[in-house]
Amino acid sequence: MQSPIRLSQPTEMQKTTSAVHYENDVDFFQAFLDPYMKYGSGYFAPGDGFEAASVRMLDRALDEARLPLASGRARILDVGSGWGSVRRRLVEREIPMEYHQINPSAVQRAFIDATFGPAASTHGGGLESACLPDQYFDAIFMHDSFCHLDDKEAMLRKLASALKPGGRLVLQDTFYATPDFRDKAVDAKTTRSIQEDLFGFAQIVPLETFTQQLTAAGLSLTVLEDVSVHYKRTVAAWLHRLASIDGARFPLKDACLRSLKRGAACMGYSTTHYFLVLNRQNSTLGGLKETLYHLRTGMRTGSSEFPGQRVASAEPRSGQVGV
Ligand SMILES: C[S@@+](CC[C@H](N)C(=O)[O-])C[C@H]1O[C@@H](n2cnc3c(N)ncnc32)[C@H](O)[C@@H]1O
Repeated sequence: MQSPIRLSQPTEMQKTTSAVHYENDVDFFQAFLDPYMKYGSGYFAPGDGFEAASVRMLDRALDEARLPLASGRARILDVGSGWGSVRRRLVEREIPMEYHQINPSAVQRAFIDATFGPAASTHGGGLESACLPDQYFDAIFMHDSFCHLDDKEAMLRKLASALKPGGRLVLQDTFYATPDFRDKAVDAKTTRSIQEDLFGFAQIVPLETFTQQLTAAGLSLTVLEDVSVHYKRTVAAWLHRLASIDGARFPLKDACLRSLKRGAACMGYSTTHYFLVLNRQNSTLGGLKETLYHLRTGMRTGSSEFPGQRVASAEPRSGQVGV
């Protein structure tokens, strides 16, 4: 099929520095991540091990996406697809799908192609250089890649336009707990060495900034869950495995240990890890003038319904995953 995702900038611009960390050999990451290679938080239920927690979090993301299964193949976009954790779980659950991905790391793309075969389309640059089709996707997953995006508000706007009405953006990431913590940390040597030296480019924002950005982008917040405790447990499992790998074979070991330890120490104090679901805002709800008009006519006719109220209903669509 012809790719619905096009480059919005010349080819030489498409390689973002944010992929630097992910260009390292796959076997380094395989040595400490779970078998799904989810480079993000699990979701621990009592008795869960490390892998079960990863699967539980992936299932939570797929269920919350509320994919419309009754109407054919779900159109899915995975932004920052890593080594394919979302795709692997979609395949295991036999979800009929048209899977598209954005991933600037050539190493990860090669691994994914070898493991799963080609996606419906792959954009081999950052989200910044992708031109997305309007109202195309049923769901967009962005697990732990929002932190790597430049011009975050514009990127949220781009994703909002690419969602079908009623479509969902499922996101997981770390945020500063308050703007004060951001101000204290942003220029600190350790922050810069993690965000610039290790990752190439990463920039977390306070949750407050993020909620302003998503509202300005035409998205509304449907689910917000603090999963810091789960993230801390996940990082503890990574650290445990990392500590026992051979530093001579994997020179990245020490830098990763340092930054993960630091990340875990801040988690739940100056930073928080969230699981979020965002909806494209329902423009049929109307603005102030329209609402006042309907309130006035509603008082005359006895109707209590606003325009678009039925469309805005939180009821799941029939045949959706997990309902
Ligand atoms: C922490 S990993 C998460 C991978 C995967 N989502 C997961 O949950 O395992 C971050 C991912 O974001 C990708 N990435 C980095 N910069 C990006 C950008 N500007 N646009 C889109 N993805 C980016 C990286 O290549 C990597 O695949």
